[in-house]
Amino acid sequence: MSKITVVGAGNVGATVANVLSMGDVVKEVVLLDIKGDLARGKALDTWQQAPINHYSSYCIGTDDYALTADSDIVVITAGIPRKPGMSRDDLISTNAGIVNTVTANILKYSDNPIIIVVSNPLDVMTYAAYEAAGIDSSRVFGMAGILDTARYRAFLATALNVSPKDIQAVLMGGHGDTMVPLPRYTTVAGIPVTELIDLKTLDAIIDRTKKGGGELVKLMGTSAWYAPGAAAAQMVETIVRDENRIFPCCARLTGQYGLDDIFIGVPVKLGKAGIVEILELDLNEGEKELLNTSASHVREVIDVYKNMKV
Ligand code: NAI
Ligand code: 2OP
Repeated sequence: MSKITVVGAGNVGATVANVLSMGDVVKEVVLLDIKGDLARGKALDTWQQAPINHYSSYCIGTDDYALTADSDIVVITAGIPRKPGMSRDDLISTNAGIVNTVTANILKYSDNPIIIVVSNPLDVMTYAAYEAAGIDSSRVFGMAGILDTARYRAFLATALNVSPKDIQAVLMGGHGDTMVPLPRYTTVAGIPVTELIDLKTLDAIIDRTKKGGGELVKLMGTSAWYAPGAAAAQMVETIVRDENRIFPCCARLTGQYGLDDIFIGVPVKLGKAGIVEILELDLNEGEKELLNTSASHVREVIDVYKNMKV
């Protein structure tokens, strides 16, 4: 049984802690936030849900890193959302500062944990955590692809009037408008999606998926948390269970897909050691071009971060 720390007890972090606790596959969830009482309150509420939903995973909240000691996995959701008047660069420097501090504090108490980054801008925050941690990139990666693929799968389920359970898909690239949903790797109960849906509808779904985060910000005035929290919790559960499930995750590439020293969404196998394998799909020319465009965009943002010397 494992000990998991979730840093940031806001909308996403609290959801990760709650979903994980309900999954009952870990021994303890530590929810940490600079707002200590917020973390303590949300963790206590989650623990008080245990008798109702029948789980034993213990959830505790804190602002003290000592309580995170010997964590097996750490999920970083700490950060601030972009505020009016703030540039993208301001957000990068503020959140990278937070991610760097959090990573350093975590490593004071846990030796070689697996770190899953959720904070935005996701691809560059994962890069920042990897640099700050100085541990193998098989143990530092980001959550975005499971969420983006889930949005794509949910939109397809609505359009086809089928259960989302039966929709399998692969989506690659950065977490933003340049992400690359891949219809050639999308099936509905084993049937290629292109046999079930016309191209115009499929294109509209792909476009909606790319803007899926923004759609929710418009509706709620802040970004989403239920699906993002469930996605990060699913990564943790897969690792704890050592299942070797295949998910799109933001991983460091070292030559795969012709890309080097970049964090970007690709299909990976997740097990107890973290990323057990990065899968290299045989992309066609059009798919490669879309992935390269996305990678160029991610690299631009990583370069902005590198030049800041946060
Ligand atoms: P939120 O504002 O509800 O929560 C963020 C929490 O981080 C706050 O409680 C804040 O006190 C805490 N925090 C700030 N600095 C901290 C520090 N130094 N140490 C510990 N805690 C600190 O935000 P929300 O909605 O939970 O989102 C969290 C992050 O996740 C954002 O950056 C958001 O953009 C990102 N996100 C990423 C997604 C993805 O697919 N990768 C999906 C959804 C959100
Ligand atoms: C999302 O995709 C904003 O990254 C956040 O919901």
